[in-house]
Amino acid sequence: MAHRETAPYTAQNPREITQLIHSLEGHKGNKSKNSGGFSVRKHTFELPNGRTVDSWKMSDWDYKKANLPTYARGLFTYKTLAGNDEIAVRGYDKFFNHGEVRKTEWRNVEQNTRGPYELSVKENGCIIFVAGLDDGTLLVCSKHSTGARADVELSHAMAGERWVERHLATVGRTKSDLARRLRDMNATLVAELCDDDFEEHVLAYSKEEAGLYIHGINLNLPEFATYPGHLVDKFADEWGMKKVIYVMEDDITKVKKFLDTVAETGNYNGRDTEGFVIRCQARENEHSPWVDWFFKYKFEEPYLMYRQWRECTKAIIGGKPPRYKKHVNITKEYLDFARQKFVKNQGLAKKYNQNHGIIRLREEFLASRGTTGADIIRQEMEGGDVDSKDVVRNVVLVPIATIGCGKTTIALALVKLFGWGHFQNDNVKTKKGRGQVFADTISSLLVTNPVVFADRNNHQKRERDQLINDISKTMPNVRFVAIHYVHDRANFEPIRAATRARVLSRGDNHQTIQAGSKDQGEIIEIMEGFMHRFQPVDTSDAPDDHFDLVIDIDPTIESRENLEVVIEKLHSTYPGLFRDREMPTPSDLDAAVQWAMEYQPDFKMDLSRGGNNRGQNQNQNQNQNTNKRQNEPKPKKQPKMEYFGIRVQAPRINSILEAMFRDQDAQTAKFFRHLQNGRRIQAEFHVTLIHRASASQHQQYWEKLNALHGGVMQQANGNWEPELGKCGVHLERVIWDERIMCFVVRLNGAATLTASNETGKATEEVNFETVNAVAHITVGTADQSIKPKESNDLLQRWLNEGSGPNGIGELAVKGNLVLEGSVRGVLGRS
Ligand code: GTP
Ligand code: MG
Repeated sequence: MAHRETAPYTAQNPREITQLIHSLEGHKGNKSKNSGGFSVRKHTFELPNGRTVDSWKMSDWDYKKANLPTYARGLFTYKTLAGNDEIAVRGYDKFFNHGEVRKTEWRNVEQNTRGPYELSVKENGCIIFVAGLDDGTLLVCSKHSTGARADVELSHAMAGERWVERHLATVGRTKSDLARRLRDMNATLVAELCDDDFEEHVLAYSKEEAGLYIHGINLNLPEFATYPGHLVDKFADEWGMKKVIYVMEDDITKVKKFLDTVAETGNYNGRDTEGFVIRCQARENEHSPWVDWFFKYKFEEPYLMYRQWRECTKAIIGGKPPRYKKHVNITKEYLDFARQKFVKNQGLAKKYNQNHGIIRLREEFLASRGTTGADIIRQEMEGGDVDSKDVVRNVVLVPIATIGCGKTTIALALVKLFGWGHFQNDNVKTKKGRGQVFADTISSLLVTNPVVFADRNNHQKRERDQLINDISKTMPNVRFVAIHYVHDRANFEPIRAATRARVLSRGDNHQTIQAGSKDQGEIIEIMEGFMHRFQPVDTSDAPDDHFDLVIDIDPTIESRENLEVVIEKLHSTYPGLFRDREMPTPSDLDAAVQWAMEYQPDFKMDLSRGGNNRGQNQNQNQNQNTNKRQNEPKPKKQPKMEYFGIRVQAPRINSILEAMFRDQDAQTAKFFRHLQNGRRIQAEFHVTLIHRASASQHQQYWEKLNALHGGVMQQANGNWEPELGKCGVHLERVIWDERIMCFVVRLNGAATLTASNETGKATEEVNFETVNAVAHITVGTADQSIKPKESNDLLQRWLNEGSGPNGIGELAVKGNLVLEGSVRGVLGRS
């Protein structure tokens, strides 16, 4: 096995560290100013000797962004006695679960990593960092803090430090020995603190097993460099600490096989395990250097079942009904067992509530049945329990929010990205029975949409209860997901500031809350009402225990970030919803939010008592025609028509491409893989019929399509990119060069549609055809600077020269593949 024999060493460059700190400082706090970037929180900790260290913390999802100054999760810096900036502690680069990000998809792991692969059991305590400062003192930290904490008796960092002392005593060494040694190595020791006496986690550690498990030694550098496992072990032995078990593999297919096998039971080496961390080296592409890189493989069960048992046990101790939806039968049985135990042994319940005896109770239960957790899971799977992994439709997203949190923005962005359903309570045009109308509309949208966003504040349990009940009556299998805009009382001021700023600058651009023409005081009063009535999600009780998943988001941050959290959580919980489709890129998310923020409601009404709906609606209609009324503040500009196109289903296109290139040699598939790996495949595919840029050359056609769009839109209640008609798209061949790839297509019969025009009276025939020389679908471009319209140039060259040595690649699409396309006008973003 190819071992790296020697320890890596690189000294810190103080200038580089100063730059790093400046860059982090620049992203501190102020989240709203840099939506495309990342945000950092800095905490300064005072050390016993009066010096200070700074901890830098980024949001989890920020680590998925490109070009961060560092990807270290857990980073502490300080000023040396000589006045230099220095990294004191450096955690691992944030690593992701398999399949969680592009880089950890198996295809990419197989292609872009190399062994030896070290597979270590994901320990199940809390992470502890140990490092040496320039004055010979030892610094012990948890992920983002060090020293004592006001709110707990013994902080993680302090518990970690006690264990360091105990371990060192066994080998007769001191903390300053360790401090000096680590600073000479310019390294941070990374350990897992596993001690059930201190804090019980789900997996058991006996007295003998408790301690600090050393799993890594990282160089204190902005970029990630870490010791190979055998040298980590050697260090742990030398300093009296515990080692982690790891398995070595050279071959990635064996790695996968091993993990898949263990994942079937979640049990390894006789122990229930949370997952594995796989350490190896990776590179961005063939020309990039190999760098140290980790990913993880999390096991879902029986770990999750144990957690459910723990929560339910605490519920019954607290006199509340236990709430659970999974592992129903076995959990009932377990709870009966637990109740009996608590009755027999009086002190037990109290101890359990203090996190003691959790594992004992569980193991006694399993022993009494003569089964293991793994057995139970296996039996359940054989019995056909539906896992959230297998959910492919019937999901309702239920925001729990107040006015101006960004519900509609997130909803529209999801519509744009995934074509899901969305209905706004503000679009219910009656005053009576609004709740019922709202729920009924959501139910009916579920028939044609896998996911529907129920856009209403749902800020009170009463509303949640009504929505969940009314939908469940007709559709019993719906899963409800709470999009919980967390409203901690302590955070009310920032929430007020954020939501008011949004609502007031939105002006009249809303169906019912028209801050532009109403008295601002009145609007603020309405908003306050929602804040005061707000009831946070409480899944321990009805109706919130019906939520299958709760996604917490922050009303004060950018919708862009919240959108990402929502998609991430949905994706990891219900991967089936995203089956066969490319996940959107960060720039897709930017674009979708941008698009959503241009939203213009297509009607307005007054819900206040005595408000005159009809009048308001008429005004709005007038407004659409004349575009402005006197003494009304300027409305946001209506987005302009960008182009007309035929949209085809992205999952189909992606699977067709994958099938076409799967069996090609590396040279033929090279550009396609390049697009895939660089996330340069379009998220959405269409045949352009006519773009605004060529409107003047084909004025009649442009106007005709616009008129058709206007007519359909009038009837399309809230949908401003409604379908104008259908058109078959015959895929003929794929053409590419080193810049761009596209399909050459034929529009089948150029379907003729008869539709009512703007006045709703006359009818008109429209022949869908493209004004481009060759009808095509752009697949992707090599980089952002290359615009999709360059397909036209490529196809012109291909028409003149054909393919082959000129660098143009060509593959015919086999079979007679005709996709059903949807003709739509697509609005611009400005
Ligand atoms: P109601 O329907 O009134 O309850 O509000 P809502 O929760 O649906 O909020 P909405 O999505 O309408 O957002 C309120 C306003 O803030 C709109 O004008 C949005 O365009 C704008 N907005 C939403 N998210 C962001 C954001 O991240 N940044 C900025 N600058 N504006 C945002
Ligand atoms: Mg809204």
